[in-house]
This record gives sequence, C-alpha cells and structure tokens, in this order.
Amino acid sequence: MSEHETHSEALGEPTRRDFLYLTTGMAGAVGAAAVAWPFIDQMRPDASTLALASIEVDVSGVEPGMSLTVKWRGKPVFIRNRTEQEIEAANAVALEELKDPIARNDNIDATAEATDLARSAGEGKENWIVMIGSCTHLGCVPLGQAGDFGGWFCPCHGSHYDTAGRIRKGPAPTNLPVPTFTFTSDTVIQIG
Ligand code: FES
Repeated sequence: MSEHETHSEALGEPTRRDFLYLTTGMAGAVGAAAVAWPFIDQMRPDASTLALASIEVDVSGVEPGMSLTVKWRGKPVFIRNRTEQEIEAANAVALEELKDPIARNDNIDATAEATDLARSAGEGKENWIVMIGSCTHLGCVPLGQAGDFGGWFCPCHGSHYDTAGRIRKGPAPTNLPVPTFTFTSDTVIQIG
C-alpha cells in the first residue's frame, strides 16, 4: 500500500470525493446536452399554476426549430415551432406506415387520421405543434429533437416519435396527445 493511499484512507475521503466528482460530471453532461438544442424552460411548478384550468403561453420568442416546455395541469406540454424540413419529413410519411393512424388531437374529430396537418395547429399554423409531453407507454417525458425520426425519443424503453409526435418505433402504443389549445393572438397560445 502506498503512502498516498494510506493517507487518503485515513482521511476517509477518496470514495466520497470520487462520488462527488462523478455526480458533478454527469450533471455537466446533461446540462451540455440541453444547451446544445435551442430550448427555453418555463416550468412553473407552483401550486397556483397547477390549479389553473388553462394557461396562456407567449411563443413570440420561439423561432423555427425551437421548443418550449410548459407545465399545464401538472403535466409537461411541448410546444415546437417546426422547420420546413421537419414538416416535410412528417408529410412524406404514408398513413399506412403509422403505428397509430389516429390524430389524437382534442381540437378535431376523435376519428381524424394522423396526417401532419391534423397533428399540427392547423391551416396556416402547420409549423406549430402542441402535445402532452408524456410517453404513451408508461409516462416518461420524451426528449426533443431526438430519436430515429428527428422528433422525440423516450429513453425509458426506447420509443421513437416523429416530427409530428407520432409513434413510429418502440413500445408506446399511441401518438403523443394534442391537448385543447387555441391561438388567442399570433404569438399567444392558450392551452386548456
Ligand atoms: S415510458 Fe416511454 S418507452 Fe416506456
């Protein structure tokens, strides 16, 4: 045993210091990954927000390619301003290829097909998509701009959603649900 090890063990430090170092390193890695994508976090976990039936979200700062996550009725809601390429990618998918062919959009008919338009905020606002950020498998929060289809990826059991939030691969059974929402102005979305 070296003199150094003997000294360290006597202080009882190495294990604790290594643990702290590892923990810090992991937090740093997660932070860096989050910063790599344009992302604004407006989580508001206070009780007053949880109690609100609806919330209004200013999306004026959300440029194409950016996402915003807000909390509504205790759940994360993803708001994404999609790029032309992301919309085109979703439109290029034949409905027969979809695991879940239903739009799952509370704003339209419950039997509507899961076209890109039906998943989006609608005519003229196809670039916007608003969805409950809860994986339809077991409820983990999927990661944005990730997965095999460039949409969302749930790392819990490997569910891949496309740029329209439709389940494409993995155990999740249905598309990410679109909650009731409306644009109250060009830049404000009311959810609920
Ligand atoms: S909870 Fe998302 S894949 Fe299982």
